[in-house]
Amino acid sequence: MDSVIKQRLLKARKDPVFFGEHFLNNTQMKPYSLEPQQKLFLRDKSPYKILFCSRRSGKTLTMIIDILHNAFFRKNQQIVLLAPTQDQAKTFANVMNDMILRSPMLQSSFIVDNKLEKQLSNGSRINFKTTGAQSGQKQNSAVVGNSVNVLYIDECQAMDAESMSTIMPVVTGQLGQAEIVLAGTPRNRAGFFYNNITNAKTIRESYVDNGKARACPHGGRYSLHRFQITDLDEDGNVAYSRAEYRLSIDELETIKDTIGKEMFLREYALEFLDSISMPYYAELRRMAGFLKEPKYFGSREIAVGGIDFGKRRNNSVLTVATQTPTHDWEAKYFKVWPLGTKYKDITHYLLKILPMQFPNFQTLSIDRTGVGESIAESLEDSVPYNMLDVIFSQPKKVDLVENSINLMESRMVSYYEHPKLGEEMDDYTRETTENERIIYQKGASDDFIDSFNLCNLSISDYIKNGGVKTTPFRSYSLGTNVFGNKQYRQKSRKRWSDYLNKKR
Ligand SMILES: Nc1ncnc2c1ncn2[C@@H]1O[C@H](COP(=O)(O)OP(=O)(O)O)[C@@H](O)[C@H]1O
Ligand SMILES: [Mg+2]
Repeated sequence: MDSVIKQRLLKARKDPVFFGEHFLNNTQMKPYSLEPQQKLFLRDKSPYKILFCSRRSGKTLTMIIDILHNAFFRKNQQIVLLAPTQDQAKTFANVMNDMILRSPMLQSSFIVDNKLEKQLSNGSRINFKTTGAQSGQKQNSAVVGNSVNVLYIDECQAMDAESMSTIMPVVTGQLGQAEIVLAGTPRNRAGFFYNNITNAKTIRESYVDNGKARACPHGGRYSLHRFQITDLDEDGNVAYSRAEYRLSIDELETIKDTIGKEMFLREYALEFLDSISMPYYAELRRMAGFLKEPKYFGSREIAVGGIDFGKRRNNSVLTVATQTPTHDWEAKYFKVWPLGTKYKDITHYLLKILPMQFPNFQTLSIDRTGVGESIAESLEDSVPYNMLDVIFSQPKKVDLVENSINLMESRMVSYYEHPKLGEEMDDYTRETTENERIIYQKGASDDFIDSFNLCNLSISDYIKNGGVKTTPFRSYSLGTNVFGNKQYRQKSRKRWSDYLNKKR
């Protein structure tokens, strides 16, 4: 081998920054010149690292360089990138593919080069995965597998709690074997990502103390890299940009006007939401709540729903969401039964009429507390769809609300804001207690919001576990199956509260 190339390879092996700046080209086919925070991260040899950085600060780019460096210079590595949705995993893979295509030196090393699965001639593999949408995996442990050497999680703040709680024991159980990189922006003051940020081992910021590591009081396991690209001044104007050459102050101002100040502070200035705040904040509602009330109550699309039974003061409300051709969801059907409606009428509706209005109805989440119990019992063996039980309690309520917000923020769900739903969203607040527990306070009524949240739970369940299973013998029979028995669509029934209990 040419000795100059050999020298450069040796240097690249030792220094991921040299690798990034000499072996990888940017979109103008020029070598990258990395920014200080990116260099600091790439040269950090800690096995557990967090990229806690503003949006568009180069997290994805930095991780790709790190992944490629690990894959090229270490043999037989199993490298996995996880993202909250299939789309995000694909986007990440696409950016990496394009980068490889622009860097001819690297291309010949790939012996398997599929979009979501790559293998190099040195035996290292890179896989892109999601734990959620369309993965078809119920057990997240199987998604990650226990032979992983390096696990990267992008947009970690949007990973659902259940996935994180099942993945991380698998990975961290391998006693120092797996290295972990988490990347993300702020979300709530709770959860896996938040906990590891607040309990980091050390923190580094390229613009403080020349990036020297500062010890953190609680002394956790992660080396935290914080990079805040901008901030607002006292008048609410964008004060600076730490990457002005590619993200100008003017551009940041435009972004601020588009997404609103609260979201801007969170996404670009790394501020967690205040300890008392509106979970259903104005920008979120504007972004997601744009649908009109539908003309007809019914649809042939795949549908799921949630029902809250009125107790004492409240009405009973059903929310139905349908799947769009692009696999997003529209929660726009609301049905209300006034206080005093006979429960028999509601069960009749759920049993007979709902499946006619929505012939592809898949999953109904039901509040099992109080009257819900007997209603659920009278329905469970007869309805042609899945039923998901929820027993309300504070922690479960938190999960339900966060689930809705996650789906709305990631654009999976848009909705019609029924005036009553709007009122209830206005009255909903989030409080964090001294020991960091989150409590939601509701207003006078909560029937719409509960039903809406339950509907969103059904959406998440459908994405994860699929809908009503049809029997494999179906096509052989007309009304009866091959055994001569009357044929039913098989239903699965699970208690959502059960798997929540296991997790806690
Ligand atoms: N050092 C750099 N040189 C050139 N472009 C960069 C650099 N760092 C980031 N970028 C570009 O800035 C944009 C945002 O980066 P990205 O990695 O997607 O950020 P994040 O994942 O933090 O949102 C991308 O187009 C990326 O290519
Ligand atoms: Mg990114």
